[in-house]
Amino acid sequence: MSDGGFARAGTRQRFFVWLMTRLAARYDHELGERKRDLFAGLRGTVLEIGPGTGSSLAFLPPQARWVGLEPNPAMHPPLLREAQRLGREVELRRGFAHDTGLPDASVDAVLSSLVLCSVRDPAATLAELRRVLRPGGILVYLEHIAAPRGTLLRRAQGLVRPAWRWAFDNCHPDRETVEAIEDAGFERVELQRFAGPLPVPFIRPHAIGVARRPHDASPLGGSSRGRPAPGR
Ligand SMILES: C[S@@+](CC[C@H](N)C(=O)[O-])C[C@H]1O[C@@H](n2cnc3c(N)ncnc32)[C@H](O)[C@@H]1O
Repeated sequence: MSDGGFARAGTRQRFFVWLMTRLAARYDHELGERKRDLFAGLRGTVLEIGPGTGSSLAFLPPQARWVGLEPNPAMHPPLLREAQRLGREVELRRGFAHDTGLPDASVDAVLSSLVLCSVRDPAATLAELRRVLRPGGILVYLEHIAAPRGTLLRRAQGLVRPAWRWAFDNCHPDRETVEAIEDAGFERVELQRFAGPLPVPFIRPHAIGVARRPHDASPLGGSSRGRPAPGR
């Protein structure tokens, strides 16, 4: 699915809905309080990439205007049901995070929960997210990340990577996502690392954090591809 073009909602897409429903329940049970704290300050327009079945919606403050970009159409019905259950207005689009279709500097925050492990090109995706964020806007993330280099776990993550990517929608167990965020020109504001809720050894550790798009003009990222403002 990831970045390769829009697939119809086939068996594989529906399998990921089933999987995500269970995975999200597990994460929310263990990390719900962290998510609530992390999302508490979100205001204005919040773009969530890869929202899946909508597990983040329950933790978002009511003041935030939520726009979601989810490529898997099979995720849309459960997400919309969740929004309805919560009485939340949402603007859900089908699309990939590397090509949001949003204008420059048009969102106040971007939210990514367990998505940057799966995008095909993290640098291009992060450049796009930086482009759509207003200066001073924040990227809020919860991601599983690579184990430290030189550890047995890191080696195991590399060994299982091909099969893991195939089985789990291009998920990379050994992605250095925090470094990629900083390389894309974001300033680190907060970062916590911790093992994570799953009993699966390859999907740890996790990072939860906030990174800011700097105010100053910088040559990194932000290709300034102005586009019409769909739905805004
Ligand atoms: C592991 S699930 C996480 C779902 C949700 N964010 C959560 O925390 O419960 C990954 C989600 O990212 C979506 N996804 C995969 N590649 C993507 C891409 N390139 N751009 C945006 N979303 C993507 C998948 O369809 C899926 O919904």
